[in-house]
Amino acid sequence: MSIFIGSIPNTEKDDLKLAKGILRGEEDLRGSIGSLRENLFDLLKQNENLVDISKESIFLFNRGRDSIYFYLKALELNEGDEVIVQAFTCVAVVAPILWNKLKPVYVDIDSKSFNMDLSLLEEKITKKTRAIVVQHTFGNLVDMKMVREIVDEANKERDEEDKIKIIEDSAHIFPSDFKGRYSILGKYSDMLLFSFSQDKSISSTQGAASIIWDENTLDTAKENYSELHKPSKKESIYNARYIKLWSLIKKYYFTNLIPFTNITIGRVLIILFRNLGLIRKQAKADTTEFAGIEKLSQVQAVLLNNQLKKVSKINARREKIVQSYDKNLKENFRFKTENGLLLRYPILLDNRREIKKRLLEKEIIAGNWYSSPVHPLASEELVEADYKLGSCPIAEKVGKNILNLPTNVEVTEEDAKEIVEIINNFAKPLNI
Ligand SMILES: Cc1ncc(COP(=O)(O)O)c(C=O)c1O
Repeated sequence: MSIFIGSIPNTEKDDLKLAKGILRGEEDLRGSIGSLRENLFDLLKQNENLVDISKESIFLFNRGRDSIYFYLKALELNEGDEVIVQAFTCVAVVAPILWNKLKPVYVDIDSKSFNMDLSLLEEKITKKTRAIVVQHTFGNLVDMKMVREIVDEANKERDEEDKIKIIEDSAHIFPSDFKGRYSILGKYSDMLLFSFSQDKSISSTQGAASIIWDENTLDTAKENYSELHKPSKKESIYNARYIKLWSLIKKYYFTNLIPFTNITIGRVLIILFRNLGLIRKQAKADTTEFAGIEKLSQVQAVLLNNQLKKVSKINARREKIVQSYDKNLKENFRFKTENGLLLRYPILLDNRREIKKRLLEKEIIAGNWYSSPVHPLASEELVEADYKLGSCPIAEKVGKNILNLPTNVEVTEEDAKEIVEIINNFAKPLNI
């Protein structure tokens, strides 16, 4: 079977059936947002550090970027104030900073963890720093305690309204329970966010949740949230239609339309559906332009409730596949982490193109997150994101050489072995 690392990789037959039912108007959507909030609340409460969480501090959005924009807005900052963020991220993280007329300040990454290099954080903090976005890249947890210590030290001298806030970006990880290792989520931050967009752990095509426990901001946030628009019917239906169309694309992705070329039915469908505006790329260069933010729709809530029911199964498979890579990949390709719940398994290569091609021949589509310090912006577009080329050399180097192996629910252990064989036999490791 073909493997797709992105485009709702964890959507299964029951999700497709549900999406079709929604499109036919057969699903009762009423109450779905309330039950989603309830379900998230029950899950989050399992976290020993979040027992005091209230349902009113959970905010549901159309997209993860909306949640970052929303929180920064609620902080009521001044134009030009600074928000620290790691390079080697998605434009969806940087865009909401720009939309608020704030300045992103980039920190380079650690080449082993792909997370922010915390030894460089302190020197980036200035009088104008108001927030830091800390991202658990691929689900590899950051030492949030250390982030908190650095921020607390900087906050010592500051008045209440100038204190730096920590935005914890958990877009790449949604644990089955919030216990043990994952109870750290939210423990040291002021706001925690999850994305449920098309390439994420669990997905409603688009969707996001954030939890705000920064008391000073919560009242403003609640007031602002009540004024937010719901998505239009057309926009909410988009999420169900995307599932139906992608199931069709995947079915024919490798079916040749013209023999001896790489023109396939699936690829032609992608172009067609994109041109008709029926499917979209989730992150593009024009994401830096503000186009409004929205709450999560009832349609998304129905889809997400179904995915939540299966989160343990999806995560168990993910862990198994990560273990298989760990066990079978040659030492210098292994990703050293204690966290087995990886959205994608990253490896650094000197011959990425060749390996991608070899995997494609086996109908396996690997990923290239993040090919750019602000993915997917090309070098000449990075100025739009206020990123200066050369300022984060590790992020730039990693971007050129990283390959992501799939860990989603459709990957079997045999598939993982086949992938490993290609890597072990043909890949050239890169050491930074
Ligand atoms: C680390 C990270 N945070 C946030 C987001 C935002 O996701 P969304 O597409 O829901 O806005 C992304 C998107 O890929 C991401 O990679």
